[in-house]
Amino acid sequence: MADLSVNIGELKLKNPVLTASGTFGYGIEYADFMDLSRIGGIFVKGTTLHPREGNDYPRMAETPSGMLNAVGLQNKGVNYFISAIYPKIKDIDTCMMVNVSGSTVEDYAACAEKINELDKIPAIELNISCPNVKQGGMAFGTNCAGASEVIKAVRKVYHKTLIVKLSPNVTDITEIAKTAEAEGADAVSLINTLMGMAIDIERRKPVLSTVTGGLSGPCVKPVALRMVYQTYKAIKIPIIGLGGISNWKDAIEFILAGATAIQIGTYNFVDPTVSVKVVEGINEYLDKNGFQSVRELIGGLEV
Ligand SMILES: Cc1cc2nc3c(=O)[nH]c(=O)nc-3n(C[C@H](O)[C@H](O)[C@H](O)COP(=O)(O)O)c2cc1C
Repeated sequence: MADLSVNIGELKLKNPVLTASGTFGYGIEYADFMDLSRIGGIFVKGTTLHPREGNDYPRMAETPSGMLNAVGLQNKGVNYFISAIYPKIKDIDTCMMVNVSGSTVEDYAACAEKINELDKIPAIELNISCPNVKQGGMAFGTNCAGASEVIKAVRKVYHKTLIVKLSPNVTDITEIAKTAEAEGADAVSLINTLMGMAIDIERRKPVLSTVTGGLSGPCVKPVALRMVYQTYKAIKIPIIGLGGISNWKDAIEFILAGATAIQIGTYNFVDPTVSVKVVEGINEYLDKNGFQSVRELIGGLEV
């Protein structure tokens, strides 16, 4: 059996298959379907300093090979996470990581500082790329000055592995990735959802209450893969690739393009056990092709 372990910052992941924030709850919701210890890690739901109601309904719409969402970071806030959720998830036998969002630089930093205190959370993923909140969110992730300001503030108070999640809704994602690296991020994850919309022609109104929303699922995979490929050539810190992954072959594509690890998002809604199947598929691929370790594959694309 090949060695599936990979390193990201100070994290030593047992394998490179992670689940994406907002699509896997707090992990425990999936424990009846699969053995959570089989995957490399879990990014829990987006967490903010203060509770957020999220956007009005309707906030989801199906699209060909994907979906639009405008959930808007609904969550009960970081204090609730610490008191009510953390005790339930802290002993799950995989790497538990928190996705942190905010509306202001101060909010991001205050939320990260609180999570820094939690022993069993070895990393955060800073979401500077959510397209579904009016204030903040993606605004920080679509220009280098905004990204720099928020990462700098968080880096000062957060002393563990810091992953910055990038928005694809930019002209050149490599510029934002370089900024994240320069400000001390240990890794970047990409991509968050792509801005899209849908129209109900009978009502002649937008389908989503917010008019626009974030597109995800298999339809975004080629865009995500291209961005991982470009970013791999631009930075030295590890990349966590995601966007449209639905099987182990997709995962291998991302790793060949330069991803050290991958995340599975929307496809968890189609098959709640997909992440374990991807671990098994990667393992078989490595054995069949004579690789000792998954690390030999990273960035192995021959162009
Ligand atoms: C319903 C839903 C909720 C999401 N919530 C978050 C979130 O809270 N924080 C975040 O960084 N990304 C969030 N995302 C984005 C996903 O983590 C992921 O980046 C994106 O969906 C692309 O991957 P996929 O095509 O595999 O789903 C959400 C996506 C969906 C579909």
